[in-house]
Amino acid sequence: MTHYNNLLIEIKDKIGYITINRPKQLNALNKQTIEELHEAFKQLNDDKQVRTIIVTGSGEKAFVAGADIKEFMNFDAVQGRELAATGQALLFDFVENLETPVIAAINGFALGGGLELALASHIRIAADSAKMGLPEVSLGVIPGYGGTQRLAQIIGKGRAMNMILTADMIDAKTALDYGLVTELTTLENLMETAVNKAHRLMKNSPQAQALAIKAVNASYYKDGFDIEKKLFGNAFTTSDFKEGTTAFVERRKPEF
Ligand code: CAA
Repeated sequence: MTHYNNLLIEIKDKIGYITINRPKQLNALNKQTIEELHEAFKQLNDDKQVRTIIVTGSGEKAFVAGADIKEFMNFDAVQGRELAATGQALLFDFVENLETPVIAAINGFALGGGLELALASHIRIAADSAKMGLPEVSLGVIPGYGGTQRLAQIIGKGRAMNMILTADMIDAKTALDYGLVTELTTLENLMETAVNKAHRLMKNSPQAQALAIKAVNASYYKDGFDIEKKLFGNAFTTSDFKEGTTAFVERRKPEF
């Protein structure tokens, strides 16, 4: 198995486990982590012994707190567009279209790119202490890893608009009410619940599941994802983006 700097990987009883392991940065997705995630999902998907993949975050605080703000805060529009396009191709579109079912076990904050990773997964289970949101507009940018498209697909346009424009987080109970997650449990029982779900999935035909994933996804391809990539890049030319990301690093409220 490949060595990963930012991931922990395990295969046990036909389940592939991916734990994003940058707890000091709340598991934020930098370039290297996205590349490693691509490799890990690919390896587990190609391994025919693996019938379900569970992805989670290390520590008790965060699933993933988003794309790594410090890494992209000085990007221009071209680099912004490239960031979104590469990330979507390597990770978010890749996971959504994987043949092996992916369960996101949301153990804490799932924000920005973190919620987008959960949205790209096929099934979402959360700890009752988890918090979810797309806070990008509070930084002067927009969700760039498919969030503007998949959130609306999953919870409906009205609720998605509300979450994206307010940048507010929702608690796990609200996420369950919205259908953003399909099961809640305690943090303590999260992995056990995800494993039980994986065993439930493994009673069915993996070949049929791969086809079903393809079929369910088929009706959702429109040019919205390309427009998102372009507009995500455009956001990098605004003064609000400079102010938003600088304020985050300086630990103050932005003045828009
Ligand atoms: N990128 C980089 N570093 C991050 C990060 C992120 N997304 N989220 C947290 N961190 C870092 C913090 O900078 C901090 O590092 P230092 O200790 O070196 O200062 C460390 O993780 C711990 O975070 P906090 O001290 O902020 O923890 P907290 O408990 O006070 O707050 C939080 C937790 C509310 C999740 C807060 O960290 C936060 O708001 N994070 C940013 C969330 C966000 O805006 N995500 C969207 C990113 S943009 C995106 O994802 C774009 C896209 O779609 C492509």
